[in-house]
Amino acid sequence: MALSKFDCKSKKCGPHRPDNEIEDLVDPKVKARMQDMILSNETLRKEQEIYLDNVNRGLKKETNPSAIIKCFPTYVQDLPNRTETGKFLALDLGGTNFRVLLITLADGKCDMQSEIYVIPKEIFTGSGVELFDHIAKCLSEFSTKYGVQEEKIPLGFTFSFPVTQVGLTKGILKKWTKGFKCDDVIGQDAVQYLIDAIKRRSDVDIDVVAILNDTTGTLMACAWIEPYCRIGLIVGTGSNACYYEYQKNAELYDEPDMGSGRIIINLEMGAFGEDGAIDFILTEEDKVVDQNSINPGGQIHEKCVSGMYLGELMRLRTLAMIKEGLIFQGCPNAQESFEKANFTSEIITSIESDHVNTYTNVKAALSKIGISDADPKDMTSLRYVCRCVSRRSAHLVAASLCVLIKKMDEPYTVVAVDGSVYKYHPHYRRVLEEKMKELLSGEDSKYKFKLMLSEDGSGRGAALVAAVAARKQKEQKG
Ligand code: GLC
Repeated sequence: MALSKFDCKSKKCGPHRPDNEIEDLVDPKVKARMQDMILSNETLRKEQEIYLDNVNRGLKKETNPSAIIKCFPTYVQDLPNRTETGKFLALDLGGTNFRVLLITLADGKCDMQSEIYVIPKEIFTGSGVELFDHIAKCLSEFSTKYGVQEEKIPLGFTFSFPVTQVGLTKGILKKWTKGFKCDDVIGQDAVQYLIDAIKRRSDVDIDVVAILNDTTGTLMACAWIEPYCRIGLIVGTGSNACYYEYQKNAELYDEPDMGSGRIIINLEMGAFGEDGAIDFILTEEDKVVDQNSINPGGQIHEKCVSGMYLGELMRLRTLAMIKEGLIFQGCPNAQESFEKANFTSEIITSIESDHVNTYTNVKAALSKIGISDADPKDMTSLRYVCRCVSRRSAHLVAASLCVLIKKMDEPYTVVAVDGSVYKYHPHYRRVLEEKMKELLSGEDSKYKFKLMLSEDGSGRGAALVAAVAARKQKEQKG
């Protein structure tokens, strides 16, 4: 997601103060109405127990077929150690923008050139052949632009959807998420679709050496810098995590151990709740978002957490409050404006980027939907709705991360994070970190952690997966 002109990186915003001050300014009735979006630690701990049980079910052969969190083994056993070298191409497909990267690893450094290409809606909701033809076309344009069309360069393919891997170069798509709908690919190998599309063009020659998820790429890219990196997290359009599990616990993994004893597991935790397990935290708005989505009943946790849905959750709750007479009562067109509006998570990032008691971004956001007469009380209420929606997301993510940290049982864990919500929301990182510290209290305070931004991880990580595989092969040969 592109940076909005209001977001926290804009010079206008200045440094952020904690947003806690807003609590005292909010109308008590509005506060009371938002209570169901505020999850107590007790509720989060209950959710953690269910989450852990779900992860364990996903890992076990016997329970995996019916498990909701699928815990896909990734075939990535080793993390980079910075001795990897070579030139790699990477494709990064996971949202409506798609990237091609050329990455050179040498002397412990990672040099990168990249281009972003847009995928039109009719393509990502059309046929798989068209989707992959589009990808191959962009790849060909990129290779020509960067003068590598004559070389056969190993390619890592970051394909950020639920995939059952059958080795490092074969990934069977289980289902689409994040608004994609090219149904013919479901049940098929995404790598084969890519290879066939490249063959149909015959103007580039590519060696696909790995398929991976963006969470894996994110983990690998940070592990290149931070040897204690053990978790990869995305909070962007979608939300998901992977972690470095012991092979003995990953019962679905059936390849020989190459020495690390571990394997990265792509949790696909966005699906959590598809069996009703987290219904106790869902609000009316969560249910409506789900019903109106392209995949009703699917990706319930993701719908509470990720950028694709946060703006809509905020819109629906605000609309309900307008109808109940709690907000925007002096704005006659507010109801109609909120009925028609189409918000992304950028609006939340933008509104919460205002300093408490200033209203620059909220005014701009409202004026875009035709509301110009809101008073400060309304704007404070709206900001509070945004705050509740984004904090609930961060709290749910914090709960899952703490489960993984405890499960790995290591004294220090670095968590690699990427995604537009985490990167651009002015308070997300702080709220996430604070909640993690709270949930890792008492005897769990022995678990130390660090959150680390993994910029461009999903792209760079693809090259690193390919490079580590090449290094291991060389080492095995002797
Ligand atoms: C969705 C995808 C998952 C990806 C996540 C973040 O949940 O299913 O594979 O990791 O979005 O992009």
